[in-house]
Amino acid sequence: MSIKNITVLGSGIMGHGIAQVSAMAGYKVVLRDIEQKFLDKAMEKIKWSLQKLAEKNKISKEEVDIFYNNIIPLVDLQTAIGNADLIIEAVPEDFDLKKKVYQELNSLAEKNIIFASNTSTLPITELSKLTDRPDKFIGVHFFNPPQLMKLVEVIPGTTTDSKVTEDVTNYINKINKRPVVCKKDVSGFIVNRVFIPMVHEALYSMERDNVSMEVIDSAVKFKLEFPMGIFELADYTGLDVIYKASYEMNLRDKTVLLPHPKIKELYDNHDLGQKSGKGFYEYKGDNYERIDLTPEKASKYDPYSILGVAANNASWLIDNEVCTIEDLNIALKLGMGLKMDIFDLFKKNGPDTIINKLLELESKYGSFYHPNQSLYSRK
Ligand code: CAA
Repeated sequence: MSIKNITVLGSGIMGHGIAQVSAMAGYKVVLRDIEQKFLDKAMEKIKWSLQKLAEKNKISKEEVDIFYNNIIPLVDLQTAIGNADLIIEAVPEDFDLKKKVYQELNSLAEKNIIFASNTSTLPITELSKLTDRPDKFIGVHFFNPPQLMKLVEVIPGTTTDSKVTEDVTNYINKINKRPVVCKKDVSGFIVNRVFIPMVHEALYSMERDNVSMEVIDSAVKFKLEFPMGIFELADYTGLDVIYKASYEMNLRDKTVLLPHPKIKELYDNHDLGQKSGKGFYEYKGDNYERIDLTPEKASKYDPYSILGVAANNASWLIDNEVCTIEDLNIALKLGMGLKMDIFDLFKKNGPDTIINKLLELESKYGSFYHPNQSLYSRK
């Protein structure tokens, strides 16, 4: 079956971006949310983004309107899914909420429609069992902002039909994204298994080493050559997303991250990052904004444990055959903007020092820091 019409459920940061990139590839898209006001805000953001892309000559002025008009915002679910070949669910990362959505979809959606979830951490096989079509269920994990990040992780569950994986992978290619198949339905898939634990580790580093957020972020940006600092990226991603992803990952796999209580505290206070005006940092509004990070601040800190935790989780992914090293590098480059391959970064920054740091932390804080055996072979 060829996918022609897409319906995206949820018009938040990810949902509206997925709708936009699909519309930019010529798909007719329905964007659905539970209230008109969410859709109005989403369409405003889509207009802003398209105009920004036109300003940078990535699309023409005429295309702004054409692409915008390829998206129909709708509240009524039955109408919204009426013509769909593929429904991409991008509602908040809450298992019970997703369960409710899939129960509703089961009763309304034609049996041939493929369901794809943009979940960042929930197990695909578990989600597929909530539906009446586990063979037509798959994970498609986009990265924020979907308009600029090229990666989409494709995660088949244990019962996903290989033809569905093929059709959905074709769709991802057609919207000019790079699919990377995550071969095992593990906690955090590929990128979040590396990224989310780094946020917690950055908090522990700040406390242990008594340095400021800006210093840590500057070191991550200028010494590790990440496009953003870790706290900056967490604010940009949204502390609700970080908290829920951390919770779900930790629930299913205790080895993946060491939860820091500050994440829950920010979430409970509704300090959600850029979108709420305050997270780790403060912001002027909810639009795209960057933190002033400098090489001078970076010179004050060596983020050994942050890199150590990232490289250790990356080696876990390889050891457990979740992906190949090539796919890992593509995923981190296109999903997080890393300039260097993760194990090259590890080699460049003193692998013995990093491993010793992990061993020192293991002796104080337990087995989470235990270096994977294969990390030694990547020196
Ligand atoms: N549409 C169009 N343009 C946009 C945009 C959007 N949605 N968002 C931002 N822009 C624009 C900005 O306004 C800015 O334009 P100006 O030059 O006119 O100011 C431009 O794009 C970006 O330029 P910058 O110089 O500020 O930034 P940059 O060169 O560093 O690129 C970035 C920006 C691509 C976001 C880069 O910083 C990056 O790759 N950051 C890391 C993002 C990342 O890791 N995302 C994944 C998070 S994890 C996740 O999403 C998964 C999960 O499940 C939690």
